[in-house]
Amino acid sequence: ADGDTVPALVIGSGYGGAVAALRLAQAGVDVAIVEMGMSWDAPGPDGRVFCPVLKPDGRSYWLRERTDQPVGYFMGGSYNKDIDRYTGVLDSEDFGGIRVYQGRGVGGGSLVNGGMAVTPKRENFAAILPSVNAEEMYSTYYPRANTALGVNHIDKTWFESAECYQFARVGRKHAERSGFGWTFVPNVYDFEYMKKEQAGTATRSALAGEVIYGNNYGKRSLDRTYLGAAAATGKVRISPLHKVTTVTPGAGGYRVEMAQLDSSGKTVAVKNVTAQRVFFAAGSVGTSKLLVAMRATGKLPDLPGAVGQKWGNNGNVMVGRANHMWDGTGSLQSSMPCLGIDNWADPGGPAFAEVAPFPAGLETYVSLYLAITKNPNRAAFSFDSGTGKVNLNWQKSWNQSSINAAKRIFDKINAKEGTIYRTDLFGVTKTWGDDFTYHPLGGCVLNEATDNYGRLHGYPGLYVIDGALIPGNTSVNPFVTITALAERNIERIIADDL
Ligand code: FDA
Repeated sequence: ADGDTVPALVIGSGYGGAVAALRLAQAGVDVAIVEMGMSWDAPGPDGRVFCPVLKPDGRSYWLRERTDQPVGYFMGGSYNKDIDRYTGVLDSEDFGGIRVYQGRGVGGGSLVNGGMAVTPKRENFAAILPSVNAEEMYSTYYPRANTALGVNHIDKTWFESAECYQFARVGRKHAERSGFGWTFVPNVYDFEYMKKEQAGTATRSALAGEVIYGNNYGKRSLDRTYLGAAAATGKVRISPLHKVTTVTPGAGGYRVEMAQLDSSGKTVAVKNVTAQRVFFAAGSVGTSKLLVAMRATGKLPDLPGAVGQKWGNNGNVMVGRANHMWDGTGSLQSSMPCLGIDNWADPGGPAFAEVAPFPAGLETYVSLYLAITKNPNRAAFSFDSGTGKVNLNWQKSWNQSSINAAKRIFDKINAKEGTIYRTDLFGVTKTWGDDFTYHPLGGCVLNEATDNYGRLHGYPGLYVIDGALIPGNTSVNPFVTITALAERNIERIIADDL
């Protein structure tokens, strides 16, 4: 409430925020989480929490009048739809050179993501974050994160015959026939629940295509794991539909100003809270935007120049291939990917490509992929005093490097299979999904913008604990690494700072 004083305030309830909240609470600290999105726990008028995939309504997008689907086209037309403006669960934030998809709500990205829970190869992690003791990460913090997230593995026997993974088996076959390595990928979606969906004994969620607008069943999102455990301590209070706008030093700690929003995005109240410690966990983009704005407007003027730098898109690029009629990918597809093609060791263009579902409810013969590549480009955030907004200078042309790396896999597969790229999925005629990312990373890089545990230089009691710490790439899907790094950092912060 307005005027309160709290020992610890966490901005955002995604992976970093959820870890911070749980571990602080377990150490006896009272925590206030401030989350700009909604709490997705109450059914709408149709009896569901999240909206149907093929009939999206306001619940699908954060304050938009029209959907903005990542794969937004099919056979010559856009299949976006008009929707009511509402504080929906998926945000497509447009920075000109790139659209950044992010989850909005209690649970952050865990509400909308594909659940792929990938621990990177140790040598890749060590190259990305050389200041972090990799031995500790792999013996302690990655296992801790995987356990607390509820990561589980697909039953390999079931996989071989499950109708809903025909698309993945076809993707694997094509990778193998072209000599590429592949690997199963663990997930936080409950595979036992999915088996029941396939058997017809449980309400379908992954098998109903649910993912980017939220899963009504089956997904172990953070509200059921870390945040559920945090709430059970009795020491954590979450304020949904509250957006932090300002953080500045004040008497007894930091003064945090926030806007309370209604479900149309309008500010209905402005509140001020004093916090002894503030954890920035608003996501790579949210944290970077806040800190860059605070530095530019003199609220936190001593933040270092490294704040706002080294932002990357995890080398994301999407592409579809058109299969032959005898290589159908199935009319029933699980929305949870379960395997990836591993070409990271290729010095000519490292890539890890997830074999992605394209659940259209009918046979499309499409093989879809989301490639994570080692794109070297990094963008910076800057404050525009004219508009009061924070810009990100990512250039669309920078994604050519990602396309080149992805082509090293898919040109080869196309040549071997005698197939071609789909050109109708990302525009009327556009082969590459190269203008958006699911994996924003960086902006407040560990050991540069912060110390080696996320403490912001110049401001004791301010911490960064989310994807902003990771310098633009994780070599695989990022949330397990974000979670494990947060586990490492919060343990040290609790031991040394409290
Ligand atoms: P995260 O974005 O999770 O949380 C930040 C929270 O802060 C949000 O809830 C936001 O609303 C809130 N916030 C922001 N600004 C605020 C403010 N000013 N005040 C209050 N609250 C504020 N990764 C993966 O490993 N496997 C996968 O399969 C996928 N798939 C995938 C699909 C899609 C569609 C998306 C969009 C993303 C993925 N990801 C993924 C990426 C993954 O979800 C992402 O990396 C993490 O959610 C990032 O975790 P963070 O803790 O950094 O922020």
